[in-house]
Amino acid sequence: MSSESPSFLYSIAFFVAFAIPEALNILLPAFGDAVTQRRVKVERAYPPLLLPVIVTGVTVEKVTSSISPINRDRSELPKAITHEPPQKPQIPIHFPAIIDDLDPMAKEPVRVLVTGAAGQIGYALVPMIARGIMLGADQPVILHMLDIPPAAEALNGVKMELIDAAFPLLKGVVATTDAVEGCTGVNVAVMVGGFPRKEGMERKDVMTKNVSIYKSQATALEKHAAPNCKVLVVANPANTNALILKEFAPSIPEKNITCLTRLDHNRALGQISERLSVPVSDVKNVIIWGNHSSSQYPDVNHAKVQTSAGEKPVRELVKNDEYLNGEFITTVQQRGAAIIKARKLSSALSAASSACDHIRDWVLGTPEGTFVSMGVYSDGSYDVPAGLIYSFPVTCRNGEWSIVQGLPIDEMSRKKMDLTAEELKEEKDLAYSCLS
Ligand SMILES: NC(=O)c1ccc[n+]([C@@H]2O[C@H](COP(=O)([O-])OP(=O)(O)OC[C@H]3O[C@@H](n4cnc5c(N)ncnc54)[C@H](O)[C@@H]3O)[C@@H](O)[C@H]2O)c1
Repeated sequence: MSSESPSFLYSIAFFVAFAIPEALNILLPAFGDAVTQRRVKVERAYPPLLLPVIVTGVTVEKVTSSISPINRDRSELPKAITHEPPQKPQIPIHFPAIIDDLDPMAKEPVRVLVTGAAGQIGYALVPMIARGIMLGADQPVILHMLDIPPAAEALNGVKMELIDAAFPLLKGVVATTDAVEGCTGVNVAVMVGGFPRKEGMERKDVMTKNVSIYKSQATALEKHAAPNCKVLVVANPANTNALILKEFAPSIPEKNITCLTRLDHNRALGQISERLSVPVSDVKNVIIWGNHSSSQYPDVNHAKVQTSAGEKPVRELVKNDEYLNGEFITTVQQRGAAIIKARKLSSALSAASSACDHIRDWVLGTPEGTFVSMGVYSDGSYDVPAGLIYSFPVTCRNGEWSIVQGLPIDEMSRKKMDLTAEELKEEKDLAYSCLS
């Protein structure tokens, strides 16, 4: 073997990179651990170097047990890691997950509950969460998926697919039909599960079913979720389900219980973008006021579009108040029904994506100068009756939302805002009558 040959150079590199650190690892364990960490990072960048790791017999457990402190004191939590690394891996296929833990700056996993996870929104939503779309590309997650016993087999199928997709951020999956197990330790709860209105059913019958579901899930969340758990209710009637949840989980701060109107908000952005042939990302500050139902009021009076000449009001660019006060509003209000007519199924991917937008902005903040719509507990702002879960324009900072104050409200808007509040009051009364 000549000194110029590739195999000779490889032997030298192997000696410097692995044999010396291994010797130090035995003689000086603390220094050896530091070198081992560095080496695993190098191996991530240069996968061919993994071969000597197998040859030298360095085990993955040693690396993780000496360095990763994550979840040490969480023995009471559901056993989430359903695809843990085997004790003595023959092939280092689990390295990506373990390398994340080696970074001293690595974040602890956040536990996210999705109820109704075997349903169609759930099926679209869980991979988005596992990919980091909801909480960020550097935020590991443990998914808690809850459904009812008749859906247990389908739920297990979703779990299998999540494992098969090998999402690097996904640190574990709890798939269960037990609400206590599903809720234990969760930091974020996305409540998609509910009882759908079936043909021939009265509104009151559907409300009775959902009130009882949200009452019992409120109790499970209150007792078993992590402190400061953020709750988003998606299942319809979303505002009233959220209100029931709030009533029966009195120790969860009311600021932590919200419902989804971001889908309606995004639909409104989409309609303006189509009308003006501009990218949807250039449109902002539409508002959905009120109920996630056809009584909602999609309002463009404060909406703006980014143009080459700066931000311009939507009304100025559209130049058609008849459209904005008529067809635009009804299109957004009726969009859910239009999707059902076209797809023979209700909206799922847009609902899942909007749920991610809602939580992401709530947790990570809204961009400067931008507001979004969220169904939140009314404090009486804009003369909306206090004590309803009503959709308002909000900004988010440091994990807290605040209602945007001081927007001028014209006469037409006032009427529409009151109309949707009236519907919410009726729903609230109906829900309470179902409880008694
Ligand atoms: N707020 C919004 O913007 C918005 C948009 C679209 C749909 N929705 C609503 O979201 C809900 C889910 O829609 P989908 O299309 O996924 O419905 P789906 O019927 O496909 O799924 C619902 C799932 O919930 C489960 N479920 C029922 N009761 C449950 C309980 N007590 N605990 C846990 N899980 C339970 C069902 O087994 C099912 O798997 C519906 O109420 C729908 O009207 C809301």
